[in-house]
Amino acid sequence: MKYKSQKVAYWFFALSMLLLVLQVTYGFIMGFAHMGYDGLHDVIPFNTAIAVHKNLLVVWILSGFMGAAYYIIPDEAETELCCPKLAYLQLIALAVVGVIAIVGFHFGWWEGRKFLEIPRELDYLVVIDVLLFLYIILVTLWKGKKRTTTALVLSGGLVGAALLYLPGMIWFDNHAYDSFFRWWVVHLWVEGVWELIMGGILAYLLIKLTGVDREVIEKWLYVIVGLTFLSGILGTGHHYYYTGTPEYWLVIGGIFSALEPLAFLGMALFAMVMYRKGEKRHPNKLALMWTLGAAIMSFLGAGMLGLAHTLPQVNLWTHGTLVTAMHGHLAFWGAYGMLVFAFIAYVMPNLTGRKRYFTKTGEYAFWIANVGMILMTSAFAAAGVQQVAMERIGGFDFMLVANELWYHFLVLIIAATIFTIGILMFMWEFIKYGMPTDSAMQSQEEFQPI
Ligand code: HEM
Ligand code: HEM
Ligand SMILES: [Fe+2]
Repeated sequence: MKYKSQKVAYWFFALSMLLLVLQVTYGFIMGFAHMGYDGLHDVIPFNTAIAVHKNLLVVWILSGFMGAAYYIIPDEAETELCCPKLAYLQLIALAVVGVIAIVGFHFGWWEGRKFLEIPRELDYLVVIDVLLFLYIILVTLWKGKKRTTTALVLSGGLVGAALLYLPGMIWFDNHAYDSFFRWWVVHLWVEGVWELIMGGILAYLLIKLTGVDREVIEKWLYVIVGLTFLSGILGTGHHYYYTGTPEYWLVIGGIFSALEPLAFLGMALFAMVMYRKGEKRHPNKLALMWTLGAAIMSFLGAGMLGLAHTLPQVNLWTHGTLVTAMHGHLAFWGAYGMLVFAFIAYVMPNLTGRKRYFTKTGEYAFWIANVGMILMTSAFAAAGVQQVAMERIGGFDFMLVANELWYHFLVLIIAATIFTIGILMFMWEFIKYGMPTDSAMQSQEEFQPI
């Protein structure tokens, strides 16, 4: 069923795409700086650029998740969103806090804690915004007719993400303690509760796109939730190897984080098995491509490239190098970036009534963006391996090595240009769809796989 209030999701996706363009811009600034062309240094020094790049990443993904939740929850609960006006207010507040944070970074108003740079004062506003979001989602679920497993896993992931933001707000004077709890946010987000959000969104998309029975799909979802918790919670230990924490983390972190790829493998198999099992009758092929793509690329980027440097014997050498950037790019893009794209590809025909299910631009956007991202990952990998060899093993100075790596960044910029062409084509499609309409929302002619 479609409900008029689901329209609000569109604006979250529009914000998400806008922030992605900005994120990529700061990526290029850093790529050129690594090559030695740091002309913007006085206005946007590297540390500002990277903070902006990472925070914009988190906000565009979260905005995408919120949009997806505002669409999925009414459908699953079979009711209108509880308070659509509040949802628009929540969107505006999110955008305003985001803008203040990003502008502030340029004036040194930040905390130098990777990924958690937003100053504490703004953190409180983030908390209020997220509480408002959860209120709308949970009240809708509560007053709805149904509470499906898919909706509960998605909401559970969202509540978990909100709760896990709090340990990052505790003040410590000691860096080792601060770092310990920073990982409760960063790690337990991407390798814990965000995986639940991903599982929930993936399940919803597969139910819609493959036509396989909900019972079958939701059974898989339980397995994925189980694998995520089993490996991901103690897997946090892979960030506690040499950070002032007790030695037992070497064993715990090593073993449990090495099991983490299983949850991503589960997700990839989940999507592929359901695709094969389904009648493949849904005409929205682009949505299916992005959905399967997300499930497979997340296994490669998060699972395989995570595994590559997760053992303490390896991480001893690779920690904090461009090897981390290699993994960070493909993991974030494959798991969460592509998932947001999959959802947008699925939802736009439903919101606007335009059945642009399989356009050439849309198809090329998929391939160009993904080839670009794989090439970017390769450039970071080559740079990372050379960096480890020279700096960590050879003992050369950090800046001297950075200077030697410039040609990897030339490759990176070429690859990033390909990637950017791909995502711009996707955004062009998004714009061509136009805005959501009431008539599209009233017509219930969404395709039902037989
Ligand atoms: C297409 C344009 C992009 C370019 C040129 C680019 C470039 C860069 C560069 C040069 C860094 C700093 C690496 C370092 O010196 O440590 C970086 C960091 C990062 N970027 Fe990008 N990026 C781009 C897009 C993206 C996208 C689309 C994502 C996510 C979906 C992403 C996620 C990240 C993350 C997570 C980091 C931090 C890595 C770490 O923890 O070491 N970037 N990026
Ligand atoms: C979608 C899921 C994932 C995402 C988005 C992701 C992203 C990232 C990012 C951005 C970082 C840098 C964090 C920072 O320095 O603050 C990182 C670090 C790390 N990730 Fe992941 N990751 C994911 C899953 C995994 C998995 C499943 C594994 C292991 C199998 C893994 C292993 C690691 C390790 C060992 C580090 C530390 C690197 C270092 O010491 O510098 N990651 N990840
Ligand atoms: Fe981790």
